[in-house]
Amino acid sequence: MSVSARVKKGMEVGSWIRRMFEEGIAMKKQFGAENVIDLSLGNPVMEPPPEFKRELKRLVENPFPGMHGYMENAGYPETRAAVAAQLTRETGIRLTQKDVIMACGAAGAINVALKTILDPGDEVILFLPWFVDYFNYVENHDGVVKLVPTDDGFIPRLDLLEAAIGPRTRAVLIDSPNNPTGVVYSADLMRRMGEILRKKEAEYGTEIFIVSDEPYKRIIYDGIKYPSPLNVHRHSIIATSHSKDLSIAGERIGYIALHPESSHHDEMMTGFVFCTRTLGFINAPALMQNVVRRLQDVTIRVAEYQHLRDFIYGNLVRMGYEVVKPQGAFYIFPRCPIKDDVAFVHELQREHHVLTVPGVAFGTPGYFRLVYCVREETLARAMPGLEAMAKKYKLAAPG
Ligand SMILES: Cc1ncc(COP(=O)(O)O)c(C=O)c1O
Repeated sequence: MSVSARVKKGMEVGSWIRRMFEEGIAMKKQFGAENVIDLSLGNPVMEPPPEFKRELKRLVENPFPGMHGYMENAGYPETRAAVAAQLTRETGIRLTQKDVIMACGAAGAINVALKTILDPGDEVILFLPWFVDYFNYVENHDGVVKLVPTDDGFIPRLDLLEAAIGPRTRAVLIDSPNNPTGVVYSADLMRRMGEILRKKEAEYGTEIFIVSDEPYKRIIYDGIKYPSPLNVHRHSIIATSHSKDLSIAGERIGYIALHPESSHHDEMMTGFVFCTRTLGFINAPALMQNVVRRLQDVTIRVAEYQHLRDFIYGNLVRMGYEVVKPQGAFYIFPRCPIKDDVAFVHELQREHHVLTVPGVAFGTPGYFRLVYCVREETLARAMPGLEAMAKKYKLAAPG
């Protein structure tokens, strides 16, 4: 076996998720894809906005020399300036191209950010439930994960955050709106988080970064305004992408932005550039950098996602599932009617052909995740299976 012990261990942890996906693929072959309802993957069916295709067409029809070649590792200055201008409009903090580098999706951005700031043994705090791959990202760079629980509404427990911070804490990695819960961290929560981090920085004489993974920051409902970490803590790094707000996850385009007043700002930016190169990304995709430059204020149709959120949330509540109402993203994370979430998800898959992901994949057994970035009729076809399971396990519908 030529796979390293470290990778083998990582693969084993996720092996049953892979097995379930493989079973799902086998089911699609056996019963036909149209007879299997896949609510397991956050790969939106919504097409990118028309502005995206217009920009692509404009570039194809008006090529410029070197358009497909390397550019500086940080990315095109014009695109970085456009991202900085958007963040300035959003936060009121003046960012420039010197604060931004382009990245290969949010996953690439987070890996570059963590590699830049972590020494072996440095700690990164994650709130439960966490996005599936965060653990791997931290371990990629020899960091150590520290898990901090959330409350019943999946809101971070700040008293436990404070208690978890030590002299080796280098970052708190957050995603709001959250995958898998759809929870959005409030402005007040973010402000208090910033205060705690500054108190601990002073206590230990360290810098503690908020690394903010925010691909869903524009997919937000009910008129809520996204509270940016840039407004609460100068040691903030945005590591994000346009995968979801432009529905272009396969195009791998994202960015890192550093607070302009961060300590060691220029050295940090040089570090991001170095790590972009040495992790093998070299630069973010050239064509996509040119496309998203003019799309910084464009977003997919959020109202459609809100409609789907209302549909699935309303139905799950009607059936008796205990569930927190998502305020953003396109995931929902109900409590399982039985303790064993893996068994529940398996049964839902086997008996009703509905594919979901057990909570244990997010470090939170006892729950399961459904995605609703699918067509409404697909979602509607999942309801009888979910209802049958609710009845079988005697969930009490609200009176
Ligand atoms: C919370 C979160 N972070 C990061 C990613 C990866 O994003 P990207 O495809 O831009 O790398 C995802 C994808 O689903 C996600 O849900």
